[in-house]
Amino acid sequence: MAPSRRRRRCTAAPPTTAKLVLLLVVLLLQLSEGASSDGGSDAPCDFPAIFNFGDSNSDTGGLSALIAVVPPPFGRTYFGMPAGRFSDGRLTIDFMAQSLGIRYLSAYLDSVGSNFSQGANFATAAASIRPANGSIFVSGISPISLDVQTSQFEQFINRSQFVYSNIGGIYREILPKAEYFSRALYTFDIGQNDLTMGYFDNMSTEQVEAYVPDLMERFSAAIQKVYSLGGRYFWVHNTAPLGCLTYAVVLLPKLAAPRDDAGCSVAYNAAARFFNARLRETVDRLRAALPDAALTYVDVYSAKYRLISQAKQLGTYVDLTTGAGEETLEIAAGLKNWWVLFVAGFGDPLLVCCGYGGGEYNFDRDIRCGGKVEVNGTSVLAGKSCDDPSRSVSWDGVHFTEAANRFVFELIVGGKLSDPPVPLRQACRRGGGGR
Ligand SMILES: *[C@@H]1O[C@H](CO)[C@@H](O)[C@H](O)[C@H]1NC(C)=O
Ligand SMILES: *[C@@H]1O[C@H](CO)[C@@H](O)[C@H](O)[C@H]1NC(C)=O
Ligand SMILES: *[C@@H]1O[C@H](CO)[C@@H](O)[C@H](O)[C@H]1NC(C)=O
Ligand SMILES: *[C@@H]1O[C@H](CO)[C@@H](O)[C@H](O)[C@H]1NC(C)=O
Ligand SMILES: *[C@@H]1O[C@H](CO)[C@@H](O)[C@H](O)[C@H]1NC(C)=O
Repeated sequence: MAPSRRRRRCTAAPPTTAKLVLLLVVLLLQLSEGASSDGGSDAPCDFPAIFNFGDSNSDTGGLSALIAVVPPPFGRTYFGMPAGRFSDGRLTIDFMAQSLGIRYLSAYLDSVGSNFSQGANFATAAASIRPANGSIFVSGISPISLDVQTSQFEQFINRSQFVYSNIGGIYREILPKAEYFSRALYTFDIGQNDLTMGYFDNMSTEQVEAYVPDLMERFSAAIQKVYSLGGRYFWVHNTAPLGCLTYAVVLLPKLAAPRDDAGCSVAYNAAARFFNARLRETVDRLRAALPDAALTYVDVYSAKYRLISQAKQLGTYVDLTTGAGEETLEIAAGLKNWWVLFVAGFGDPLLVCCGYGGGEYNFDRDIRCGGKVEVNGTSVLAGKSCDDPSRSVSWDGVHFTEAANRFVFELIVGGKLSDPPVPLRQACRRGGGGR
């Protein structure tokens, strides 16, 4: 798939003068930032593995393995077929892994073709921090909540090490070495469904906020459990601006009014920020409780909000020297990403690329991306992709396109949106100091 992608980017329309001016500004800004953040003690952590916990924002095949396979046209941009991910291509966690030289994470639940030598992904779409009540077919919430994910992780350590040592052979190629568990990066991105669940149950913002302390206790317990099992380096994403997601705006229209300048629901975003403020305090408390741990709190909310509120000025990437996007990632992941530039703005961030019905949002509650309808007795695809997902922020009304995920990755990888402000590859540092 990569070659066709490159070709398409090379033939992209030339940027307008306004965009060229913007490029120059971005270039200069990035140059000065690159210069100032190039200190002497920048040794990378050499994480040998990533273990990830979360929901559809970082699911690389869990829900597909568990219950229902993600259908086409998911995956079309990068994988050329559905790849268990809720996007047209890669997720932020994929770009993170790639930038650390780690293979794309296999879902823990995926029993076919998986390779866990450099980590495992316990995230499943529709997962929440709190345990779900009842079947996913009724509640829409995955049974693989955060507590289940950490207990699967515990089993994974035991069983993988038993098999690695006692059976060996091919398993030594596809399971992690024992020492990786203490050197790995543990990444978390969960909580979005806990908030939306309340709203879909017709709760008020007050009622939703009332259970956030319970979410924090459970989140804290999950980190402490991973710590007790040997994990030391934690990278915690906060939750997205829910009020900027098409499904929230369309499915809960009364609550979604009023909107801000970016078209996002003020109330939902306030609830997300409330959650994030508590999460940040929780991470602070964990730092005090777990002195040997390095915890990085990552403000993904701001990255996503910036993307959505400035979508039309920002956009996809072109490497000046080759006109291609792919190889530049490794460089972009480091500090010197100044020659990777943004061109060609995204379109309306609430307009869904892969959906049905057209109109303001191209989002239909019953016919989602990949959804089919009966036409004269034949089932035909109705939830189709737009022609160029790289110009869209919203892939399916709930999840981002690969282009948007890449953008979020670029904003967070350098550490500017993190507390402490360490780059991804140095997230083994505590408070910016030595390890
Ligand atoms: C599940 O039900 C219990 C008991 O009614 C309740 O306390 C809890 O909040 C519910 N959990 C969720 C995720 O709604
Ligand atoms: C993992 O192994 C440890 C030590 O043998 C044991 O205490 C623990 O219960 C095991 N956990 C699981 C989930 O098997
Ligand atoms: C598993 O991944 C490791 C690390 O990328 C690689 O060296 C190995 O060849 C892979 N093995 C299989 C069977 O996929
Ligand atoms: C929420 O309210 C709407 C409109 O009153 C109703 O149709 C829906 O069934 C309610 N949902 C729940 C989970 O109670
Ligand atoms: C469905 O069948 C009717 C009657 O044969 C025909 O007029 C119509 O064009 C068909 N619709 C589609 C979408 O093929």
